[in-house]
Amino acid sequence: MKNNPYIEVIQNDPHILQIPEKIYSQKGKWEEFFGNKNEVYLEIWTWLGHFFSLESSEHLDKNFIGMEIKFKRLFKTAEKSRNAGTKNFILLKDFGQNIDKIFEKNEVSRTYIFFPDPWDNKDRQKKHKLLQKDFIVKLFEITKNQWEFFFKTDHKKYFEDVLEIIKEIWLWSPQFISYDYEKDSEKFTKTKITEFESMFRWDKLKIHYAEFKKIDK
Ligand SMILES: C[S@@+](CC[C@H](N)C(=O)[O-])C[C@H]1O[C@@H](n2cnc3c(N)ncnc32)[C@H](O)[C@@H]1O
Repeated sequence: MKNNPYIEVIQNDPHILQIPEKIYSQKGKWEEFFGNKNEVYLEIWTWLGHFFSLESSEHLDKNFIGMEIKFKRLFKTAEKSRNAGTKNFILLKDFGQNIDKIFEKNEVSRTYIFFPDPWDNKDRQKKHKLLQKDFIVKLFEITKNQWEFFFKTDHKKYFEDVLEIIKEIWLWSPQFISYDYEKDSEKFTKTKITEFESMFRWDKLKIHYAEFKKIDK
C-alpha cells in the first residue's frame, strides 16, 4: 500500500476529495461547492471512469459526483473526465454506504449504480453488499422528489432481491425493468456501456436493468 504512487497523486488532484471530514462537511452545501444550482448526478462504483467521463461530458449542465474506493481508479476517472471536457465534477474516495453522511435530504437527482459486486459467496461478506434495504431507504432520502436511480447487473439473484425490496418498502416506482435489456432496442441504443458491461456482453451474459423513480411522499 505504501508503494502505491496514486496515494500522493490524488492528494493534489483538484477533482478528488479523500479526507472524510472534507467530504462530510459538504453535506447540504453541494450547490455552494459547485457554485450553481444544477442537478446533482451521482455514480457509485465508478471503476476506471469510462461511463462517468462519457456521461458527464455529455451533460455539462449537471454537477457530477462519483464515488469509488481505489486510488488509481479515482485518478484515472478524473483524468478521463478532464480529457473528455467535463467541468463540473468531483470524485469522492468513500464507500457508497456513506451517502447519508455526504448528502442532505433531496440533494441528489439521479444515481447510477452499475454492476456492484454481489458479495454472495460468504455470509460474513454480506455487509459489503451495497443494495440492501437500509441503503435503498437512504438513497430515497437523499433523492429529490420525482427523480431516480438506475441499476444494472448481470447477477439475477441480486436483481430479484432488489426488486423484492423495492416492492416491500414502496418508496420507489419502477419505470423500466428488463432481464435482458439488449432486447429493448430503444433503451439499449440510448444507454452507455460500462467497462463491466462490455466484459459481460463479450461473455454473452444477459444484462438486467431497472430504473426507479422516487415516489412523492
Ligand atoms: C464491479 S466494479 C464496478 C463496475 C463499474 N461500475 C462498471 O460497470 O464497469 C466495482 C467497483 O466498485 C468499487 N467499490 C467496491 N465497493 C465499493 C463501495 N462500497 N463504495 C464505492 N465503491 C466501491 C471497487 O473498487 C470497484 O472499482
